[in-house]
Amino acid sequence: MAASASTSLASQLSGLGSLACPQYSGLRHAFFKQEQRSLSDAHLSQLHRHLRVASPSGGKACRAVVAMAGTGKFFVGGNWKCNGTKDSISTLVSDLNSANIESDVDVVVSPPYLYIDQVKSSLTDRIEISAQNCWVGKGGAYTGEISAEQLKDIGCKWVILGHSERRHVIGENDEFIGKKAAYALNQDIKVIACIGELLEERESGKTFDVCFKQLKAFADSVPSWENIVIAYEPVWAIGTGKVATPEQAQEVHSAVRDWLKKNVSAEVASSIRIIYGGSVNGSNCDELAKQEDIDGFLVGGASLKGPEFAKIVNSVTAKKVAA
Ligand code: PGA
Repeated sequence: MAASASTSLASQLSGLGSLACPQYSGLRHAFFKQEQRSLSDAHLSQLHRHLRVASPSGGKACRAVVAMAGTGKFFVGGNWKCNGTKDSISTLVSDLNSANIESDVDVVVSPPYLYIDQVKSSLTDRIEISAQNCWVGKGGAYTGEISAEQLKDIGCKWVILGHSERRHVIGENDEFIGKKAAYALNQDIKVIACIGELLEERESGKTFDVCFKQLKAFADSVPSWENIVIAYEPVWAIGTGKVATPEQAQEVHSAVRDWLKKNVSAEVASSIRIIYGGSVNGSNCDELAKQEDIDGFLVGGASLKGPEFAKIVNSVTAKKVAA
């Protein structure tokens, strides 16, 4: 029953073809993919949602809308890691200030703590600021740490937590990261929650187990998912130049959304942004962005170059279809 309904929706769509706006062909592609998948209610409701945005506009001029499996806005974050000096950061900020970036994208950059204030006072308000880490609780006698209250005090809106470099180089575990997320959210700091498997875990078929375990640790701690963006960052792709293929990333993103549907709620599964990170650059972003469950990117190396980062932000246009 479900299969025949979906087949007929897909064939209706293929019948519409690129009639309305030939330049936007991504939607048909997405539907054929849907047809090949197992057909759950979630997939059917995605089909209906896409069909709504894709109806021919009765001869009116085409309008491009962003078609994503989820309902959230495209999101691109730049993780500057432990890079930069006052001078190089001033150049990067001025490149970002003069870049043309699409309006329908949330954009965030994450400088090292030391430079947050410099960036905050010189960067356009169009781009929000994230920290790369924060302490697990209220500040006090914790040498070398920065608290969520302090981030809030300097106008930092976001924090990246669970990044693979914190997990695997510094040794933070799932539970500690979950607690950090809960504390930051309670201080009104939004969280970019990172998950991702090591190469050996992927090679031994454990990718989903690892990602779901990391997700569960967040789920066990956080009061709500409203102010969280999930970043899927396979560790083998970070800083290596070896980007995941669009299909590899899409497979995990879709599984993450299904996990959230089963273990949190259908509403969270649909509204949350799931962004991809790991060797994203100006040349591979468009193909990745076309995947329906990729809602944006977390970018390391390429975020240190203003024009390239702007190009990645603007990959939202690769997701646009005619309505
Ligand atoms: P990369 O880093 O883009 O340099 O691979 C991504 C990240 O660590 O967030």
